Amino acid sequence: MAQTSGSQRPPVHVTVTGAAGQVGYGLVFRIASGQLLGPDTPVVLRMLDIEPALPALEGVAMELEDCAFPLLADTVATADANVAFDGVSWALLVGAMPRKEGMERGDLLTANGGIFGPQGRAIAARAASDIRILVVGNPCNTNCLIARANAPDIPSERWFAMTRLDENRARAQLARRAGVPVAQVTNMAIWGNHSATQYPDAINARIAGRPAPEVIGDDAWLRGEFISTVQKRGAAIIAARKLSSAGSAAAAVIDSVRSIDGGTAPGDWTSLAVPSRGEYGVPEGLQFGFPVVSDGATWHVVEGIEHDAEANDRLRVTTEELLQEQSLVRELIPV
Ligand SMILES: NC(=O)c1ccc[n+]([C@@H]2O[C@H](COP(=O)([O-])OP(=O)(O)OC[C@H]3O[C@@H](n4cnc5c(N)ncnc54)[C@H](O)[C@@H]3O)[C@@H](O)[C@H]2O)c1
Repeated sequence: MAQTSGSQRPPVHVTVTGAAGQVGYGLVFRIASGQLLGPDTPVVLRMLDIEPALPALEGVAMELEDCAFPLLADTVATADANVAFDGVSWALLVGAMPRKEGMERGDLLTANGGIFGPQGRAIAARAASDIRILVVGNPCNTNCLIARANAPDIPSERWFAMTRLDENRARAQLARRAGVPVAQVTNMAIWGNHSATQYPDAINARIAGRPAPEVIGDDAWLRGEFISTVQKRGAAIIAARKLSSAGSAAAAVIDSVRSIDGGTAPGDWTSLAVPSRGEYGVPEGLQFGFPVVSDGATWHVVEGIEHDAEANDRLRVTTEELLQEQSLVRELIPV
């Protein structure tokens, strides 16, 4: 399906894996309408899913066609990773194996390793030279680590796993508690794993430019209920919707890419899981959630943030969980 783009710019190829799934459905229309890469950049949307999902994926492709998005130069729907990642500049790795009843964490990690290892190799073989990758499919930090390890020629700073949904959830909770618009909540970092061990750090967040603890005035809430609400928000959505977060996850994908590509606001940062270079004592190479500043061309982990003993304890717990995940998939990581 080819459409004529009104723009003179060459289209950018974007891959969404698991595009027939829930998050994929929330995401592809936003990408095709220009919300990911902006109103001047035509897009070729390359959608990957597994063979049994191809009929559903064809339906998504038909709907995209029916939107007549001026920026959508073409769509590709395939079950072949080599086709999906051909010439791609952004790979959004959403598709993953869900946890099934009775499945141990180790089994889940290994099953996903069987997806993300080959996808890493296909990206290395087929993607454009400016490829960047955002892993959403869970367990996203370790899935990203596996894909990255299987694509050693792609610079490590091109690999991201998504902690932005947790950041957005945290900002919304703080805004609601403080009674301010969410845009006034800044500097909200999610540290560590995108899991229940993550550390949402409100102590260093700011509300209307002031330290969040000063504005909220309730340390017990900030250190207790706030943290557990953010950590367990995914489970609360499942309990309410009988389906996991999809619209908010797709929104967080858009936010993540726009922060990396368009840069973070002056004085603010965003949350992304990136390969550790040893910052804050986190073992090198772990795909770890940090506060990140981007100028649109390069990014770096924000250094010098202070943590008290309780925060350090939480950082230790989430680091240990990631190290344990890494050890469970050791055989999927080429040395
Ligand atoms: N990081 C985050 O904040 C965050 C937020 C929400 C969801 N997630 C994760 O995103 C993933 C997708 O969630 P969902 O609600 O869309 O799930 P879903 O089950 O609705 O969709 C998953 C899709 O992935 C496809 N898939 C499975 N194996 C694949 C493979 N090898 N290659 C390509 N596609 C494959 C499935 O066929 C399905 O269409 C899940 O792992 C979920 O836990 C992460």
